[in-house]
Amino acid sequence: MKIFIDTANVSDIAKANDLGVIRGVTTNPSLIAKEGRNFQEVVQEICAIVDGPISAEVISLEADKMVEEALPLAALNPNIVIKIPMTIEGLKAVKVLAAKGIKTNVTLIFSSNQALLAASAGASYVSPFIGRLEDINEDGLKVVEEIATIFKIYGFKTEIIAASIRTVRHATQAALAGAHIGTMPYSVIEQMAKHPLTDAGISKFLADWEKVKNK
Ligand code: E4P
Repeated sequence: MKIFIDTANVSDIAKANDLGVIRGVTTNPSLIAKEGRNFQEVVQEICAIVDGPISAEVISLEADKMVEEALPLAALNPNIVIKIPMTIEGLKAVKVLAAKGIKTNVTLIFSSNQALLAASAGASYVSPFIGRLEDINEDGLKVVEEIATIFKIYGFKTEIIAASIRTVRHATQAALAGAHIGTMPYSVIEQMAKHPLTDAGISKFLADWEKVKNK
């Protein structure tokens, strides 16, 4: 599973990029709002840091308006992927954008049927939200598993981005469920790198080294 970072915070993106583990970035209007900065400016800064798919979301609800918003965004950088909400209008916009060769990430996916429709319309990526399903006591991982199975059976090229990953356990489960990509905040990436036995092992090695370093 490839790792994407899910944030619009350029300093977190730069930190994660320095680790060499991230292959792309996802943002959403809430993440952009959290930064309190100009949308296009933030997106351009992200594109300058990460050489991989960068999802930027439209906020219109009608297909023609979504396409109108998408075109200047896509023109910012060849790595831009247009994030489109999973609605009937969103599907129409995906079809139009796919015909123009513009990549899309259909977001706010909560069922495998939604993912099947998005992939059929020509989406490059679908984003099932694990954490938000768990918030309402539903099984987000099962949805990822179902999508992975359906895409495999029918040979869809659409990639699954397991989104709304909030814990290290979600990251493992998404990888095991067959997600091509997991998008997560920097805090989760950092936590994935840690293990108490690694820390204990380093302390022990250093303590033992102290005993012999001057011999
Ligand atoms: C994905 O693309 C979304 O931006 C994100 O994963 C949503 O996560 P949340 O449910 O923790 O807000």
